[in-house]
Amino acid sequence: MMMNVCVLGTGYVGLVTGACLAEIGHDVTCVDSDVDKLAVLTHGDIPIFEPGLQKIVQMNAEMGRLRFSDDLRSALEAEELVLFVAVGTPTAPDGSADLSALFNAVATVARQRSARCPQGFMILVVKSTVPVGTCKRVQAVLSSHLPGSQFAVVSNPEFLREGCAVQDFMHPDRIVVGCTSPRALMAMRRLYAPLIGRGHCLVETDAVETSELIKYASNVFLATKIGLINEFARLCEAVGADVVELSRAIGLDHRIGVHCLVAGPGFGGSCFPKDLRALVDLAGKQERPMPIAEAVIASNAEHKRIMAMKICGALDGDVQGMRIAILGLSFKAGTDDIREAPAIDLIATLLDLGAILSAYDPHANTPAARLFPEVDYAACVEDAVSEVDAIVIMTEWAEFRDLDWEHLASVVSQPLVIDLRNHLDPERLASCGFDYVGVGRPKFNNAAYDAVPFLAISKGQSSSPSAA
Ligand SMILES: NC(=O)c1ccc[n+]([C@@H]2O[C@H](COP(=O)([O-])OP(=O)(O)OC[C@H]3O[C@@H](n4cnc5c(N)ncnc54)[C@H](O)[C@@H]3O)[C@@H](O)[C@H]2O)c1
Repeated sequence: MMMNVCVLGTGYVGLVTGACLAEIGHDVTCVDSDVDKLAVLTHGDIPIFEPGLQKIVQMNAEMGRLRFSDDLRSALEAEELVLFVAVGTPTAPDGSADLSALFNAVATVARQRSARCPQGFMILVVKSTVPVGTCKRVQAVLSSHLPGSQFAVVSNPEFLREGCAVQDFMHPDRIVVGCTSPRALMAMRRLYAPLIGRGHCLVETDAVETSELIKYASNVFLATKIGLINEFARLCEAVGADVVELSRAIGLDHRIGVHCLVAGPGFGGSCFPKDLRALVDLAGKQERPMPIAEAVIASNAEHKRIMAMKICGALDGDVQGMRIAILGLSFKAGTDDIREAPAIDLIATLLDLGAILSAYDPHANTPAARLFPEVDYAACVEDAVSEVDAIVIMTEWAEFRDLDWEHLASVVSQPLVIDLRNHLDPERLASCGFDYVGVGRPKFNNAAYDAVPFLAISKGQSSSPSAA
């Protein structure tokens, strides 16, 4: 059954949510405070790179089920309304989640709903990732403007992964809904019925606190897996083991699982780092410290620092004046999102050490150029690597595998590839004449960098400027 939906915030989560809810038959209005973003969307384009999204945005807009507006008031006129809040919740200076965008949005909704539609029933769904207790605070704000019989607050955290967000939304491992209102719960079941009907699991929690915490628990588990496999990668290098074979073998154990078990440059992105910080902050405030979560944050920072040292080591210990090409800027393949991307940390460190950088990313050159205008951004890999002393792979874009590496060996100054994603075929690279350095794969590290004493890169040096 079609329902009236409004999505507040058309970022990576809000736009996917709005488009996918329209795709399963609902009538959706997406509202954003960013007029530039809305202008792009109303012209039929999308402001982010997300595979498959543009198509469903266009199709549903054409069918009249999906529209974009800055006019929240009109959207709030529907008597029966499901309103998603999907605004950003970045890290505040003290490490907690900055909820100012969320509460600004909620305060506006409360005021305008009471003025425009005092009779109906509105379900306010908190889609943003928020610390435990936030939904109760949202409830209090709405209560000061609307009678309790005319609204309910629901926690419905999002688990999609950028790069396969549409697929994840349409085929979720689970949909988590936390609410205390039977009427709202019935409505949420109706809203997601087309997905639940396909066998996707709806997890209902009667305490909103459980739902809010599930999101943080998921992310800390996943980040811990990545942190651990990166620590194993470093150990592998010391003892002569291979981390790729190791992670495959342990991942085959169903209790461990293969996902998030790939050694790399350290985790980044708009979720894991900030959500871990917010979780540690929440746990501290509750006087229930979480030393494992704290250790994962510290381990990841240390790993990024060691990866920068690895690059220095491969370049005889000093990158001052060295020309280095960074291939890949987004925090992972399939997205243009550079928020807390490992490449961003690395660029900051290498620039501080006096390296001369060029960079190429198929989708993220533009946002990176806003952060580091001093880097030379190239329109193709060949231009980026021309006359460089080293190529560093920072994002696992498929196209990097298929490059004509033989030809690239002829345009660089020094044929050295430092593959911090273990993304390329080391034997093929060697056959094209490249020295190859991977992560946790000492048998392929044919650039004898281990013999070079690592530079001491100070611990403070590799903290990325937030691109949020
Ligand atoms: N990006 C992900 O992969 C992902 C996955 C799961 C959960 N989340 C969570 O979802 C939330 C949103 O993340 P995102 O990556 O989509 O953020 P984003 O920064 O891409 O998008 C947020 C949008 O909200 C808009 N906005 C801010 N204040 C507003 C207001 N008052 N009214 C209308 N629009 C407003 C901004 O203009 C922006 O377009 C965060 O809490 C995040 O932690 C993100």
